[in-house]
Amino acid sequence: MNPAKELILNTSLLLSLLVFRFCISLDTISPNQPVKDGDILVSKGKTFALGFFSPGNSGRRYVGIWYNEVPQQTVVWVANRDIPLNDTSGVLSFNGHGNLALNSQNRSTPIWSTNASISTTNNSMAQLLDSGNLVLVLRHSQRVTWQSFDYPTNTQLPLMKLGLDRRTGFSRYLTSWKSEDDPGTGSFSLGIDPIGYPQCVLNKDGTPSWRGGPWTGQRFSGIPEMNHNPVINISYVNNQDELTSVYSVTDPRVLSRLVLNESGIVDRSTWLKARWYVFWYAPKESCDMYEECGPNSYCDPYNPDKFQCTCLPGFEPNSTRDWYLRDGSGGCVRRRGVSACRSGEGFVKLARVKLPDTSIAHADMTMSLEECRQECLRNCSCTAYTSADETRGGIGCLAWHGDLVDTRVYSNAGQELYIRVDAVVLAQYSKKKGLIRSKKILAVLIVSVAVMLLLLVSIGYWLVMKNKRGRGSRESKNLFRPTSSSTYLQEPPSSIRELDESSRSSDLPFFDLSIIVAATDNFSDANKLGEGGFGSVYKGLLDNQKEIAVKRLSKNSGQGVEEFKNEVTIIAKLQHRNLVRILGYCVHREEKMLIYEYLPNKSLDFFIFHETKRSLIDWGRRFEIICGVARGLLYLHQDSRLRIIHRDLKASNVLLDNALNPKIADFGMARIVGGDQIEANTNRVVGTYGYMSPEYAMQGLFSVKSDVYSFGVLLLEIITGKKNSAYYNDGPSLNLIGHVWDLWREDKAMEIVDSLLGEQYANEISRCIQIGLLCVQEHATDRPTMSTVVWMLGNDTTLAYPKQPAFISKNTYNSRDRLISEGASSVNEVTITMINAR
Ligand SMILES: *[C@@H]1O[C@H](CO)[C@@H](O)[C@H](O)[C@H]1NC(C)=O
Ligand SMILES: *[C@@H]1O[C@H](CO)[C@@H](O)[C@H](O)[C@H]1NC(C)=O
Ligand SMILES: *[C@@H]1O[C@H](CO)[C@@H](O)[C@H](O)[C@H]1NC(C)=O
Ligand SMILES: *[C@@H]1O[C@H](CO)[C@@H](O)[C@H](O)[C@H]1NC(C)=O
Ligand SMILES: *[C@@H]1O[C@H](CO)[C@@H](O)[C@H](O)[C@H]1NC(C)=O
Ligand SMILES: *[C@@H]1O[C@H](CO)[C@@H](O)[C@H](O)[C@H]1NC(C)=O
Ligand SMILES: *[C@@H]1O[C@H](CO)[C@@H](O)[C@H](O)[C@H]1NC(C)=O
Ligand SMILES: *[C@@H]1O[C@H](CO)[C@@H](O)[C@H](O)[C@H]1NC(C)=O
Repeated sequence: MNPAKELILNTSLLLSLLVFRFCISLDTISPNQPVKDGDILVSKGKTFALGFFSPGNSGRRYVGIWYNEVPQQTVVWVANRDIPLNDTSGVLSFNGHGNLALNSQNRSTPIWSTNASISTTNNSMAQLLDSGNLVLVLRHSQRVTWQSFDYPTNTQLPLMKLGLDRRTGFSRYLTSWKSEDDPGTGSFSLGIDPIGYPQCVLNKDGTPSWRGGPWTGQRFSGIPEMNHNPVINISYVNNQDELTSVYSVTDPRVLSRLVLNESGIVDRSTWLKARWYVFWYAPKESCDMYEECGPNSYCDPYNPDKFQCTCLPGFEPNSTRDWYLRDGSGGCVRRRGVSACRSGEGFVKLARVKLPDTSIAHADMTMSLEECRQECLRNCSCTAYTSADETRGGIGCLAWHGDLVDTRVYSNAGQELYIRVDAVVLAQYSKKKGLIRSKKILAVLIVSVAVMLLLLVSIGYWLVMKNKRGRGSRESKNLFRPTSSSTYLQEPPSSIRELDESSRSSDLPFFDLSIIVAATDNFSDANKLGEGGFGSVYKGLLDNQKEIAVKRLSKNSGQGVEEFKNEVTIIAKLQHRNLVRILGYCVHREEKMLIYEYLPNKSLDFFIFHETKRSLIDWGRRFEIICGVARGLLYLHQDSRLRIIHRDLKASNVLLDNALNPKIADFGMARIVGGDQIEANTNRVVGTYGYMSPEYAMQGLFSVKSDVYSFGVLLLEIITGKKNSAYYNDGPSLNLIGHVWDLWREDKAMEIVDSLLGEQYANEISRCIQIGLLCVQEHATDRPTMSTVVWMLGNDTTLAYPKQPAFISKNTYNSRDRLISEGASSVNEVTITMINAR
């Protein structure tokens, strides 16, 4: 090398060093310019700063990066997070191998260092970029050999990739700080789990605590707030090279960060107008926690009255008892005794969900949703499927093989999930769907009929007018009913008028609205006898001095006119001394009413739960009432021409006549099942908690045995004078049944018996308690039929030993005694529709 050339080279090197020292040194570390405690590096655009800091109240020193312009020090990265410096002797400088190292006075080895593999020494430099990334670059080639973005702490900054480099296996994830004062590696970590179909997972000490879920094209399934946003642009890459998620901010003035904090909460926030605004955070509610509800169930936080765990369609609780105690962790199993494998199975759709754990899912991006369905149907281990990517109406196939874990529903976000169900459940959902369709058809029909009627009425009116003019004012008899009530009142005061149109085939008397209005003094409050879930009951007095009780169904009782009339007709045919007698009905536009015989002594609950009236019914009377109710129920179940399930038997639905004979009332919810059908299923669970059998309350399955259950509860209430739903503070049991059961097993059942009942009847009473307990056994099959009950009441035979009754937790009751739950439920009703097999 000639000297001239060498001189030029040296000068240029000197120049570049000068430039480096005076112009660039603010954001760079070079071999001859280390960073000591107290020095601060600031990025070019002054966004980030690097230096030594002490977090919170700790006196220890760390090297970190924070926002330069945010007044309250907000650290985004820490170098020596697990080994702090105990004094201010730290120096960050290049070591002899071109790596950055943090050394302290008293230690021979570095506390922290970068571990880039660099072959040439002394030509590295480190630079703090405006993105908050500290990069180590080779000066001649500008190649980045190390960057702080590859070693995230608790913060993801824009352009920082989280996830897996599939070529090297290197993975980047966030880990929380230990505490506000200690940036050491905490127990929470957030990253993308590549097992099965990749998903975003937050772990605590290595086990999942929250799932952000799989990427669905626009966002992660478990972060509904992560919607398309003009400021924050999130992208996700899953190919053979990498599995990463990164985001960018389109407006450079906006500072945005994603932080996993010490409590294990992830939040995205932006710095605006001198404060951090939290965009979203998670986990937010208990339904977000991993497996809050066990396998094959979903978590629904939107109905505070109800247990938040619900079995997926076609599944039932693994342990009914735990489910009752509001412990959903045991999850659900496929309905026992049914097969969902090559036996007519299909899929039902659950909408607005967070997709279940995808670690057991596989994706095929080449399939359409229909191909996906067929593929899933073919393979019996396939439990659910959906589109892998929501964009453009759905791309690819994502299918689960095994238990569906950690599913929840959202009110207005989420994916659709198609769940494999057996043929029976499939039919139920298809019926429901059919019902909706037929309702639509019905609506169209009604409109056309209405138009026709209008036409007819006009013609009729014209005819009537013509008649009047022609033959004077002859009463228009029945062809067209006058509709104003003043006209009604001019008619002869016959209280009951048979319908004269033969097209209405009902043989139950029809009452004119005007008659009811007159009898009840226009439904005056003074005449109101009570209020039930399906309407109010009024006392009325007909012109012939006969007293009636009018049940006025509320407009939203959900019953259509035809359905209503059908039911009325059938009930009209029931005649039994222990059933309230129906006298007639009234339908007028929206109004639907049932007219019953009036019973002056009100209902049983007025007596048995009343402080003083209780004494009016002694043991003999009570036993008669129990037997009467049992006979009435037996008639409904067995002896009448139809098999009728009452579904809402309770003390307030047992009326007492003058002689205190019981009469079962309120068939508003009764269902007629086929002669030999003994079980049915409904998606609309109606009834009263405290009287509802477990299989009915939980699964909507009702049968004569659910009435037996209610009867058992009623029997125990009559004997004890206490409501099943009453609160037992001072005992381990949750309700009356549990309390009686506990005492009975200890042979102390007489302790809870109404003290007004004489000691001398102890044997009889104890026997009745045993019958009551037999009726409330958890499993429907264990419960006796009503005919057995009647027989047991009437004959002094040995009784079976009851099994444990179904316990219902205190929490199941709410302030409203009566509860109408829409199947399993509001969610199902709205969101579950079904897909035909094949
Ligand atoms: C500072 O002290 C802590 C505990 O007292 C120790 O673990 C750590 O190694 C010390 N740091 C240095 C650089 O010596
Ligand atoms: C470092 O060494 C000096 C003297 O060698 C001593 O005074 C000081 O306490 C030591 N610091 C630590 C943190 O050990
Ligand atoms: C640097 O260290 C990390 C662990 O701290 C390791 O995962 C990574 O592979 C190392 N890189 C190199 C180039 O040695
Ligand atoms: C690197 O630089 C240091 C000081 O600047 C010097 O002592 C050392 O000899 C250099 N090493 C090489 C390989 O040039
Ligand atoms: C969002 O990010 C992706 C990938 O980084 C990029 O291709 C795209 O142009 C960005 N979109 C906007 C609106 O900035
Ligand atoms: C963690 O973040 C959440 C949401 O931003 C916040 O409410 C909570 O106070 C934070 N916890 C700690 C310990 O900072
Ligand atoms: C149901 O419960 C049993 C016993 O507790 C348990 O072994 C089984 O794993 C549970 N099934 C599911 C699907 O969780
Ligand atoms: C069903 O799917 C599983 C998981 O993809 C696979 O292992 C199994 O071979 C499939 N069975 C059939 C019969 O295709």
